[in-house]
Amino acid sequence: MPERMLLQIDMKINQRILLARTPQGLPLVEDFSSDEVAVVSPADGQFLSRTIFLSLDPYYRNVMKNSPVYPERLAPGDVMIGETVAEVIESCHAQYQVGDFVLVRNGWQQYALSDGSGVHKLNPIELDSINAPLSTALGVLGMPGLTGYAGTLALAEPAVGETFVVSAATGPVGSTAGQVARMAGARVVGIAGSDEKCAYAVRELNFAACINYKNNDKPGELARALKRVCPDGINAYFDNVGGTTLTAVLGNLALHARIVLCGMIEAYSMDTPPPGPFLGPLVGARATIKGLVVYDHSARMPEMRQVIGTWIRHGQFHYREDITDGLLAAPAAFCRLMRGGNFGKALVRVADA
Ligand SMILES: NC(=O)c1ccc[n+]([C@@H]2O[C@H](COP(=O)([O-])OP(=O)(O)OC[C@H]3O[C@@H](n4cnc5c(N)ncnc54)[C@H](OP(=O)(O)O)[C@@H]3O)[C@@H](O)[C@H]2O)c1
Repeated sequence: MPERMLLQIDMKINQRILLARTPQGLPLVEDFSSDEVAVVSPADGQFLSRTIFLSLDPYYRNVMKNSPVYPERLAPGDVMIGETVAEVIESCHAQYQVGDFVLVRNGWQQYALSDGSGVHKLNPIELDSINAPLSTALGVLGMPGLTGYAGTLALAEPAVGETFVVSAATGPVGSTAGQVARMAGARVVGIAGSDEKCAYAVRELNFAACINYKNNDKPGELARALKRVCPDGINAYFDNVGGTTLTAVLGNLALHARIVLCGMIEAYSMDTPPPGPFLGPLVGARATIKGLVVYDHSARMPEMRQVIGTWIRHGQFHYREDITDGLLAAPAAFCRLMRGGNFGKALVRVADA
């Protein structure tokens, strides 16, 4: 066989998903494109890894519109950004060996080079010992888990007997926040987007109640439903969605309530910010609103992994994953996430471990 032909057969191909255009409103699969390029070998001080799981996170939509809140920038033609679990397959980096599993921002592609910045080595044996798959490093034992854990303990500060309300209650952030509050002795009420999600929140996550906001979408209905299940008012609200849900909660605050603003998913797909809710009820309730940015709490990551890992091992903490197979299916899975269609941590399995 001629030498050139052999080279082509040996060449590893890297499938990538690119931003095709900036979405207008909710993202569409047409906002993405794909291509294939040759895999490049690592230079000195670099390693090459193959992506196993790609995390799909709502904030990617904000990066797609180049929100100034995030350091990353995306232009049409760029590989989509994203956090991944990957396996090192070639290394010229002293700290990473072939076979290491790492948390690394490979983006939406099968292979990527890294110089080790911001990379976290995973310990599959440790994860195995708590019966948690590698993928949990992107969910409840990763950034979303830390958001729910630290945001609840440091900012919402639920006390025994208090009523704690959380929206997007079955996602990785919301289900963690709610379960942490429950473990702290609070009575937890979820808000979620389907009867199936609400049944899971009550049966599996042991929340006292869960309201399907889609069944309470007429003006004032959600506020009235909250009043029924939180007759003494809401002491702490962990807000993952903003919008009309936040307004409904504001009408039900207990004295000295704490509101943690974690996410505003509804607004991520809007080009101009929506009008804010009426803040009047905060005055009478002497309430506090706190903004949460998970990276302020990075130092608590080992503590969170230890605490939630132990709860998982003892069957006291539950989580769900919503896994889509194949990199090419990532755009559709992301569009589904941004419409609330996911049920559990949204992930794409790019390759088998
Ligand atoms: N502040 C921080 O540092 C930080 C860090 C990580 C995540 N976050 C934020 O935390 C929130 C939850 O993140 P997650 O990763 O756990 O996501 P997730 O809950 O798995 O997915 C987002 C969920 O939001 C709900 N939702 C409510 N209104 C929606 C709307 N108008 N459109 C689409 N979805 C809607 C849906 O659940 P339902 O069907 O139950 O409504 C959807 O499944 C997001 O807002 C995210 O940006 C913030």
